[in-house]
Amino acid sequence: MKARHESGLNEAGLWARFAALAGIAHECGQLALRHFSDQSSLGVTMKGSQDFLTIADGAVEALFRRRIAEAFPEDSVMGEEMGGGDAARLWIIDPIDGTANFARGDRQWCVSIGFVLDGVPELGVIHAPALGETFLARRGHGATMNGVPIKAASTHDLRRSTVEYGWSPRLPAGPYLDAVGRLYGLGCNVKRSASGALGIAHVAIGRTDAYGELHINSWDVAAGLVIATEAGARINDFCSGDWITEGNPILVTVPALWDTLFDACGIAAAPKPTKMGGA
Ligand code: IPD
Ligand code: CA
Repeated sequence: MKARHESGLNEAGLWARFAALAGIAHECGQLALRHFSDQSSLGVTMKGSQDFLTIADGAVEALFRRRIAEAFPEDSVMGEEMGGGDAARLWIIDPIDGTANFARGDRQWCVSIGFVLDGVPELGVIHAPALGETFLARRGHGATMNGVPIKAASTHDLRRSTVEYGWSPRLPAGPYLDAVGRLYGLGCNVKRSASGALGIAHVAIGRTDAYGELHINSWDVAAGLVIATEAGARINDFCSGDWITEGNPILVTVPALWDTLFDACGIAAAPKPTKMGGA
């Protein structure tokens, strides 16, 4: 088959990676779940204020890196715990997104894995083993949850909408609180569940109408970008500048609410983070 990418990867190569993705995510999820089931083994430490780390984060990322090295030795990996940089064939992993939940026995966490080819997010899986939910997508081929096609909601009325608006200690609270005030003023139900990846998956499946955050890292959203796009949600130009290493603001919404929520969330005027999370 003819190569269609700068990286030399062809359709068959992309399908091979897609075929492997759910299995590798499942294995990573099982390892994380074993740790989650024995909370006394987590060895919780703090990277900073409200920034949790457990033994499982590093262990899951290490397992993932071994599996990719075995199956696709020519590929590169970027991960929250062990770092990495841009590459033509790049896997991006957040071994545990929602670590604060994970560390306190709350099941709202996931393994999030994206595959980016020549700068374009092509594949994504968000696997939440403690919830029994796996969101999966390939660009141009739709999105599923546990094998069933999913679609974003068709909400038009802000007074019926639910918006998840994320926050991290990388930014001061002021712009976040201002945006939350504007969202309440519009009649939105505002929530924060502490997993950006699952927050985006929930827009894709129609449980919420938007996920916004003034700064988020590539490992939190690489998978969700593909899943939410394929489910019909609208997304800002997250993949611009040094998005892989520096992150960007994110906004994912149902199409009808885009204009209003883009303004209310303050995405265009998002401040730069003062410190980066991860490695
Ligand atoms: C965090 C979560 C949180 C989001 C932060 C992320 P972590 O990741 O996704 O919901 O608001 O921006 O850093 O620390 O749980 O891996
Ligand atoms: Ca994360």
